[in-house]
Amino acid sequence: MRMLNFNGGPGALPIPVLEEAARDMLDWRGTGMSVMENSHRAKDVIAMAAEAEADLRSILGLGEEWAVIFCQGGASLQFAMVVLNFAGPGGRCDYINTGMWSTKAYKEARICGANPRLAATSESDDFNHIPEVFDFDPEAKYVHITANNTVRGTQYRRYPKTPTPLMADMSSEFLSRPVEMDRFSLVYAGAQKNVGPAGVTIVALRRELADRARLDVPSMLSYPIYIKNESMYNTPPVWSIYVAGLTFKWLKNTIGGLQAVAELNRVKAETLYQALDQSGGFYLGTARPDSRSHMNVTFHLPSQELNDRFKKEAKAAGMDGLGGHRSVGGLRASLYNAVTLDDVNKLVEFMREFQRTQG
Ligand SMILES: Cc1ncc(COP(=O)(O)O)c(C=O)c1O
Repeated sequence: MRMLNFNGGPGALPIPVLEEAARDMLDWRGTGMSVMENSHRAKDVIAMAAEAEADLRSILGLGEEWAVIFCQGGASLQFAMVVLNFAGPGGRCDYINTGMWSTKAYKEARICGANPRLAATSESDDFNHIPEVFDFDPEAKYVHITANNTVRGTQYRRYPKTPTPLMADMSSEFLSRPVEMDRFSLVYAGAQKNVGPAGVTIVALRRELADRARLDVPSMLSYPIYIKNESMYNTPPVWSIYVAGLTFKWLKNTIGGLQAVAELNRVKAETLYQALDQSGGFYLGTARPDSRSHMNVTFHLPSQELNDRFKKEAKAAGMDGLGGHRSVGGLRASLYNAVTLDDVNKLVEFMREFQRTQG
């Protein structure tokens, strides 16, 4: 039986994408082997990666001033790459701390020898909202934000205006809504939420920024090396890029792009938040309403015992991945692009029935 998948990441992928990948498994494009068994230097594989990049560019509306690269090492490696390429030893850089992943990014900057500072943080409020007041350093090399906080269930409704280049970890909201790319100099996202399998991290950065990257950086951590070698300096994660490419086509051709998917995501999230708000305090949301994420809905029940029973019974009813991140506990429903409104309605129905019998 196929489960309704509310995992925080790796998360749900579109069924047509999984079906096409399954059809291609033994014989991809008539090569008599799967895509991941082909050489990454084969012309079909190079064409496949180029097509994935072109589709992504068209979805995001990226012109030639942007470079798009496929990295490995997850979003976590980007925490270090951003610093090594653009701050360097003692380099000043600003971070907005909105939860566990921003904290990790900030700490990584220290580990890499830079001089990061916090331009804002919501830590004293248990990261329940996105700050609105910032103290930016005009001399910083960049400002780093986490666009959507997977663990805390908060999300920027508007990205901040910054005096220095804005760089964003978009892992858990990438391709879920239109993005004002002119605000940004660099964005990155691990694939395993809205895009495809873990193993590839997508980075879009302005070429003029890449031209100013530091050169005292190991090859596999250097943005200019990825750009120069079209992400094939070493063996790239071909399978992950291939599935990402299928997802881009699905998003473009079946869903209709970012505006369309954003509307679907808004309705899904509002349906679930409404269910929380109308439960008379049985289901308690953890994010402040003005900062609520459309991707990760975090909530809890009046007791740990009820949280545990909820997860267990939801799983028995065919709904998986509803546990909160292990660092905070509680419950979380992740509503990535491949989760349908019908899936959310089923979850809400289950929640009402659970409250009726256990509340
Ligand atoms: C916002 C955010 N940033 C970074 C990460 C870490 O990603 P990775 O496991 O690809 O390093 C995650 C993982 O869930 C995340 O949600």
